[in-house]
Amino acid sequence: PTLTQDELKRIAAYKAVDYVKSNMVLGLGTGSTAKHAVDRIGELLRQNKLKNIVGIPTSKKTQEQALSLNIPLSDLDSHPVIDLSIDGADEVDPFLNLVKGRGGSLLREKMIEGASKKFVVIVDETKMVEHLGGSKLAVPVEVVPFCWKFTAEKLREVMEGYGCEVKVRLGEEGEVFVTDNGNYIVDMYLEKDMGDLSVVSDEILRLPGVVEHGMFLDMASTVIVAGEFGVEIKNK
Ligand code: A5P
Repeated sequence: PTLTQDELKRIAAYKAVDYVKSNMVLGLGTGSTAKHAVDRIGELLRQNKLKNIVGIPTSKKTQEQALSLNIPLSDLDSHPVIDLSIDGADEVDPFLNLVKGRGGSLLREKMIEGASKKFVVIVDETKMVEHLGGSKLAVPVEVVPFCWKFTAEKLREVMEGYGCEVKVRLGEEGEVFVTDNGNYIVDMYLEKDMGDLSVVSDEILRLPGVVEHGMFLDMASTVIVAGEFGVEIKNK
């Protein structure tokens, strides 16, 4: 029988939790894949198979989930160095660069995962792309609410060469989506390959009003891909 996408996500997540050892400070990711990893960590703590874990949640949602599982939590101020972070991604390219943030948690994710000695990404095979933006899903950019239309237009101009359309992200009731940090998200839809990602990244980050973008370049140490063929582990 073929596995559902959610079963594949769970398989990847459980594999990642094999990297977790007692006494670690852990970055806890956000999204439907990371949720399985957090559940599993909670279960291993309850069974006493893991001890003395400190979790650093990447969103309010993950914080709530972790609290409900009695995972002890802290933050980056108290733990500026994290042993291991586990999180999902929206896209993974052949160099293990990522797009993240469809769930809107890119800023906290980037801060926490960037402070991690090891960052394990968990995906099902549908997330693998030839180049970022390649799945025609959005590349998100977090912007301050102040005159966000101005910032969105500047972003469109900078990205014009890649056939970029920009849209402010809306929530379920059509209201503007607000991140955990009180910001908005402008989603970029790209027609063309972005080429040198570090150049594009710098151009976006240089725009006043931009807080962060969802391209995670050269951050993942390991990507665990679950597919019908089994599990593949890609190391940097
Ligand atoms: C949250 O903001 C995101 O970065 C998620 O980690 C990413 O969108 C993957 O989510 P799923 O595991 O739900 O696909």
